[in-house]
Amino acid sequence: MPAFTHHIFVCGNVRSPGHRRGCCDPGGQQALREAFKRELKRAGFGPLARANHAGCLEQCEHGPTVVIYPQGIWYGRVQVEDVPRIVDRTILGGEILNDLLIADDCLNNPDCPHRRKPAAEARDGA
Ligand code: FES
Repeated sequence: MPAFTHHIFVCGNVRSPGHRRGCCDPGGQQALREAFKRELKRAGFGPLARANHAGCLEQCEHGPTVVIYPQGIWYGRVQVEDVPRIVDRTILGGEILNDLLIADDCLNNPDCPHRRKPAAEARDGA
């Protein structure tokens, strides 16, 4: 079986309200993943492009988070209304959308300034 040309992992992690890291899908509706499925179909992609529900991708503070493999493109703060241009411009056109891109110095960086610290750590300056 040939490899996927685009495998899109859409964080649908749900956490309790008030969790210090937040979560990508507070309502648990998977609306973002459904939008990707719908737009991939509209764009005429066959079985080699797929949008999958994912658990936490560890970029919570930048969420809702999406990663596209094998290209390794990480997008954050993705909204349903962004999905058509992601499919048209990134998936079809190969263009990186800089307004959605998670910065290299934030990606997988535990010291990313966007990460919320627990109140006790923040109080102590940690
Ligand atoms: S909850 Fe989505 S990246 Fe962590």
